Amino acid sequence: IDISNFRSESEGVITIDPGFKNTGSCESSITFLDGEKGILRYRGYSIEELAEKADFLEVAYLLIFGELPTKEQNDKFHNDIKAQAVVDEDVKKIVDAFPKTAHPMGVISSLTSALTAFNPTSVNVNSEADMYRAIVKIMGKFPVLVAWTYRKKLGLPLDYGDDSLGYVENILKMMFRQPNGNYIQNRILVDALDKLLILHADHEQNCSTSTVRIVGSSHAGLFASLSAGISALWGPLHGGANQAVLEMLEAIKEDGGDTKKYMTKAKDKEDPFRLMGFGHRVYKNFDPRAKIIKKAADEVLGNLGIEDPILDIAKGLEKEALEDPYFVDRKLYPNVDFYSGIIYRGMGIPTDMFTVMFALGRLPGWIAQWREMRLNKEPIGRPRQVYTGAKLRSFVPLENR
Ligand code: ACO
Repeated sequence: IDISNFRSESEGVITIDPGFKNTGSCESSITFLDGEKGILRYRGYSIEELAEKADFLEVAYLLIFGELPTKEQNDKFHNDIKAQAVVDEDVKKIVDAFPKTAHPMGVISSLTSALTAFNPTSVNVNSEADMYRAIVKIMGKFPVLVAWTYRKKLGLPLDYGDDSLGYVENILKMMFRQPNGNYIQNRILVDALDKLLILHADHEQNCSTSTVRIVGSSHAGLFASLSAGISALWGPLHGGANQAVLEMLEAIKEDGGDTKKYMTKAKDKEDPFRLMGFGHRVYKNFDPRAKIIKKAADEVLGNLGIEDPILDIAKGLEKEALEDPYFVDRKLYPNVDFYSGIIYRGMGIPTDMFTVMFALGRLPGWIAQWREMRLNKEPIGRPRQVYTGAKLRSFVPLENR
């Protein structure tokens, strides 16, 4: 190794680690992940047990505050959130101003940032009480913004939820209520969404979470930090993969369902096509979330009586990939997003809303990581670089260039 590559002109040795593949940015006690063994735990509890036994709000409390809530803590948390489940009426004007064709991730990121303008005190967090207020505010208002983003797309009236319902039940009602107020609750959908949100709730220092922490480290407010995280999540290499997976599966179906053809494309280094929903920076074994989601996809579609040929194409691709030396050698397994879109589609959620649903699940994780960063009094995030540009040169006036 030529050490001069790692030496900045002005200072000592600097570590270059593009993509931060081997660089830790913080100490964290929130999520444990062992990518070799395929283990994921929130605050010490296995993802399998939480997905089976807990509800999303309990998991949100656990992630943010470190322990499972008692009944009283859970009720208080829920009531404090419900009290915040309204947004300024002027936010409706912003929603109205977006074209119907706007991508929901752009809308939700903008609306989340706009909330700072309507709640300026949420930026000043000088105590745990200030933090708590900002946290319940966004936990209450974000589902309203998600529902409005969806309803705007469908041209439905923007209204509020029903505070007699559970957190996740209310989200579905806010989204799917008819203009005449009609809404029939479906327990299968509530349970499926609850599980999906739990599985997406945190995943340590991924791209969007690192974004939230780094923006928050400048003491920008929680909502601005979350808005930045939502933008990071949007990309197809991260949360946007759930939309990309469904589009890929649709394209394969339209093309006659020839999975082998697409496996060949994915392995061709000259072809930019990648098997979306496969591979992960940290998991070099099965993503434990994908295992749970695959089972849930079978159950949900079965219970709803939906036969979706897309599910068969997905299973076919997975089977081929698990036997293909290209994927086996590179340890490329299905990730959380490979099957989640199939469930969202079964629930009647449009493809370009999938990543918004991911953001809804990731919200408590982002909040927990932001809170931890602030409580640990972490310094401002400011990576270094190795400058490789021109040496000092003299300015040439425009007429002489
Ligand atoms: N299809 C085909 N080949 C792949 C795929 C894929 N999905 N993923 C990785 N590879 C190959 C790469 O071409 C590379 O091959 P090489 O060693 O011959 O050059 C090798 O596997 C390693 O891949 P990298 O891109 O270096 O791995 P990295 O850790 O940087 O990327 C990522 C991880 C972004 C998830 C990648 O696997 C990918 O693009 N997957 C598809 C998109 C996706 O599903 N993203 C969602 C991730 S989960 C989440 O964020 C919620």
